[in-house]
Amino acid sequence: MLTFVIVAVALIFPVAVILDSWRRRRVEVPETGSEQEVDLPLTQGNGRKLLFGVVLIIETFLLMIAYAANEPGRQEAAAAVQHDFLVERGAHSYVSLCMSCHGLDGQGFLEGGAGVYIGRPLNTGAFQIEDTPDNAEAFEETRAFLYKTIQNGREDTPMVGWGLENGGPLNYEMINELVALIMSGEWEMVAHFAEAESLATPTAQPTESEEELGKVLTVSVCGACHAIDGTEATGIAAPALDGIASRQIAGVLPFNRENVVRWVQNPPGIKKGSQMPPYPLPEEQLQAIAVYLETLK
Ligand code: HEC
Ligand code: HEC
Repeated sequence: MLTFVIVAVALIFPVAVILDSWRRRRVEVPETGSEQEVDLPLTQGNGRKLLFGVVLIIETFLLMIAYAANEPGRQEAAAAVQHDFLVERGAHSYVSLCMSCHGLDGQGFLEGGAGVYIGRPLNTGAFQIEDTPDNAEAFEETRAFLYKTIQNGREDTPMVGWGLENGGPLNYEMINELVALIMSGEWEMVAHFAEAESLATPTAQPTESEEELGKVLTVSVCGACHAIDGTEATGIAAPALDGIASRQIAGVLPFNRENVVRWVQNPPGIKKGSQMPPYPLPEEQLQAIAVYLETLK
């Protein structure tokens, strides 16, 4: 608003000066009643230069003040655009890498452990700290905590390290984007992308048969690492599961339902050093996954 007023004044001012000096050139001479050209001292020779000089200096000042008045607003707007950009990119990564375990809106496992999500809740107020001078310390602490957790994961849990350093797919910027998403609490952004990519979410799809439930679970929980042809499972961290029913599991177990359940519950317990984390899902979910994998011949 202040900027607007100053710019308006800056535009009107020289026009007013020029109009004014022009007007004064024609004055009525009272004795004769006729008009006569009268050159005022400021509209001729050095006087004119002086007038232009003064107008120029005042204009410069006005424009500088206008720029300074606008600066904080400009910086704020730029920061807001930058923030939206980070959150949006974070949501994009989240949908493909994190949603399978942490859920569509970051809810993680549901109350009572009944849900199919195995990750912890990420949509808690504890993580949503605004970056204001009063909060600087808490903001930085939370930011660092989230960054480290995503980068390095948690030992002996399905939360693996996602940083490039740990063989994961995420670089510094991508982790920062995910942190920005979690700290902003703008989970509707995730829903937006999930919808745009029509990704299956366990709660979003009604399931009729065991095989169908198995497919939804496999695509959402396992699809972060494994790809399956013709589904939204497009992970690249592990072998594609196409044709798994026609080969040994990880080269160590004959394929059958019982062995799929055993494998998923504890891969490193079956194959030493296996990079696949254990998925201690409820029995009927493990069964459903096994039934579905059996169809991948
Ligand atoms: C395969 C399942 C799985 C995936 C995929 C996954 N997580 Fe996790 N995550 C977990 C589990 C399980 C925990 C809880 C670990 C524990 O017991 O400390 C967890 C914990 C976390 C925590 C710590 C929460 C807290 O309260 O301490 C953060 C932050 C987190 N995950 C972020 C992410 C992000 C970001 C992604 C995507 C890059 C992701 N997770 C992908 C399973 C997963
Ligand atoms: C965090 C990444 C990750 C997730 C999520 C994951 N896996 Fe795996 N999986 C792996 C890796 C890595 C291997 C290769 C392990 C090995 O050979 O030791 C693997 C191997 C397998 C194999 C053997 C593949 C083959 O070609 O022999 C099967 C079957 C399997 N996983 C099933 C599942 C199922 C079912 C789920 C979901 C409940 C799942 N995985 C989730 C990482 C993952």
